[in-house]
Amino acid sequence: MARVIVMDLSRHNTVMIGHDRYFVLHEGERSVLVRDHCPHRGGPLSLARRTPDGRRLSCPWHGTKVGVSAVKRSCLPMVRSGDEAVVVLPETGVPVSVIHKEILANLPPDPTHDEGAESR
Ligand code: FES
Repeated sequence: MARVIVMDLSRHNTVMIGHDRYFVLHEGERSVLVRDHCPHRGGPLSLARRTPDGRRLSCPWHGTKVGVSAVKRSCLPMVRSGDEAVVVLPETGVPVSVIHKEILANLPPDPTHDEGAESR
């Protein structure tokens, strides 16, 4: 059986499920709750900045460019209405907490970005 939580997005943007962290990524008018985990070595994609084209996140650990579409594939089911979001979590039996964290990935693209390694 799934576990459902309600988030107040005006106060919280991050969900901890045991040791796994998910953050609210804004994509235009939509918001998705995605895993805060770089596919290279697990860096915090919430602290990544977008490339100038806005299509990738540049991981702060080693600079891998991760496609936003790939990041979105890690999302948990979430329905948003205003500042309220209903999220369906996997039933893992681990503690869950909802917190506020700095999210750089939602800032405008970084104009100083240079092209480098890429992961899709
Ligand atoms: S952990 Fe993200 S680039 Fe290495």
